[in-house]
Amino acid sequence: QSVKAFAPATVANVGCGFDVLGFALHKLGDFVTATMMDTPGVRISRITGDGGMLPLDAEKNTAGLSVLKLLNELGMNDIGIDLVIEKKMPLGSGLGSSAASSVAAAYAVNKLLEEPFSLPELLPFTVEGEMAASGTPHADNAAAALFGGFILVKTHLPPDVISLPTPPDLFCTIIHPKIEIQTRHSRQILKKDVALEKAVSQWANVGSLVAALFKEDYDLIGRSLHDEIIEPVRSVLIPGFDRMKLAAEEAGALGCSISGSGPSLFALSRGKETARKAASAMGSELQKLGLEYNDLISSV
Ligand code: HSE
Repeated sequence: QSVKAFAPATVANVGCGFDVLGFALHKLGDFVTATMMDTPGVRISRITGDGGMLPLDAEKNTAGLSVLKLLNELGMNDIGIDLVIEKKMPLGSGLGSSAASSVAAAYAVNKLLEEPFSLPELLPFTVEGEMAASGTPHADNAAAALFGGFILVKTHLPPDVISLPTPPDLFCTIIHPKIEIQTRHSRQILKKDVALEKAVSQWANVGSLVAALFKEDYDLIGRSLHDEIIEPVRSVLIPGFDRMKLAAEEAGALGCSISGSGPSLFALSRGKETARKAASAMGSELQKLGLEYNDLISSV
């Protein structure tokens, strides 16, 4: 018996919503195949597409950890599960690579066991996987990968995730400069205290972004993405960030910020054509710096 599951790449934070907002992308993601085996324990027999970077030890691997937590919760530590992980997206890119693997693994094993858990109930297991990768629990990538679409994480324990609507003409541009940033590091550099006036502006933006999605108000989406707190600290790790952001806005994008913990940037646009223009404007800024990158356009 075997189940193969897919979980998508995701954009977390979406500008103003550090650790609470996220959405799924349509093209990239990971596959995990879970198979029952006779020997007890969780074994990761193969990982492809990671260039040998990820640990095969289930206790140290995000996918393995989420499955171990799931089995532990069921008191089924004596059954045997083999996992094969196919990475189809870059690691350390800010596109939720660890979440994609841990969500696909938990989903596949839950199916294999005839669904003892509902979809929301899987979230805490996948967040355990994220903990291993970043050192702190955050559920914005995992919830977007698990539920799809645009989500807001109210709490991950207990799982309380709100699915948000997306306007039909909303497109996302991703620019992935070929450098690697570890989420663990880009969380460590954040300031622990936030000035009250910045907090006020940030929660005003989160509220108005959520309202804009419901109202299908594209201009308001653009006016709400602004992140006062995280982006100024992290953007220094991304070469050409300010120029790419300006280029996206000049090309007509509604707004642009860091995807998750970076180095990828995302820009939101009304219409696919504008999303394409943003991609080439942003990309040409990286070319001027002699940096390699990949781009991607996805509906939201
Ligand atoms: N919300 C998390 C962070 C996402 O920004 O650290 C990590 O991809």
